[in-house]
Amino acid sequence: MSGVVVLGGAGGIGSAVVRALREQGRRVAVVDTAAPSDPADSPMWITGDATDPAVVGAAFDRLAGEGPVTGLVHCLLSEHRAALAEQSPDAVRKVLDVGAVSAVEPLQQLLARADGRPCAAVLVSSVHAAFAWAGQAPYAMAKAALEALGRAAAVELGPRRLRCNVVRPGFVAVPRNAHRWQNAERRDALIDAQPLGRLAQPDEIAAMITFLLSEQAGFVSGATITVDGAQTVVLPEPKNS
Ligand SMILES: NC(=O)c1ccc[n+]([C@@H]2O[C@H](COP(=O)([O-])OP(=O)(O)OC[C@H]3O[C@@H](n4cnc5c(N)ncnc54)[C@H](O)[C@@H]3O)[C@@H](O)[C@H]2O)c1
Repeated sequence: MSGVVVLGGAGGIGSAVVRALREQGRRVAVVDTAAPSDPADSPMWITGDATDPAVVGAAFDRLAGEGPVTGLVHCLLSEHRAALAEQSPDAVRKVLDVGAVSAVEPLQQLLARADGRPCAAVLVSSVHAAFAWAGQAPYAMAKAALEALGRAAAVELGPRRLRCNVVRPGFVAVPRNAHRWQNAERRDALIDAQPLGRLAQPDEIAAMITFLLSEQAGFVSGATITVDGAQTVVLPEPKNS
């Protein structure tokens, strides 16, 4: 089976993607600033900054040493929570760099390494790409840019057999945000906003990502697929109706 590079593979959603891909028999290389928690992962793990093309190149090299590489997942988290009135341009640039610009080079590397074979990339966005939330302007900007890149890649690189899609999750219960879903009051408030009456699990996002990487999704490209349990299609009730 061909290989997939997962940027952010140590994270809550990223590690679920790595697990799911391995269950399908795919070879996986991870790039993350965090080191692997299991030493057995070390041979296919590059600990470093995914905004550095040399770091990402090393992950492609390791996978390519063992067979074809035809997949990429961009699953990096970068945010700088602060009121818009207090955001600094440098902080915004950093979020854009990690959250969106960092996907450009890996897409080029995927194209080169696939060497004419059909290949697929999935960029992990967020519902913040389309909705505003106080204090999260840089994150929303980065996600909107990432989605635009996904469409551009699908159109421009499609003729070279690269499919590119975006997955747009709503809130997902991961270790990073456990302080929200492990606190009973905050958990109830999060669940209240969910038509399905529960929170999304990382495996449920990973399932969509691995589907989009698979041959079953062979004609899906340029799509942005929301995986939010219908949270963002709820019509707000008018006050005093
Ligand atoms: N969890 C959610 O509620 C949620 C909702 C919508 C979208 N998302 C998106 O899903 C993706 C994964 O989020 P998560 O919740 O699993 O977060 P997470 O923090 O658990 O995972 C992100 C991973 O990216 C790594 N990372 C960050 N910057 C990096 C860099 N420069 N180089 C290498 N690695 C870097 C981190 O070390 C971490 O392992 C992100 O793109 C996030 O925006 C998450």
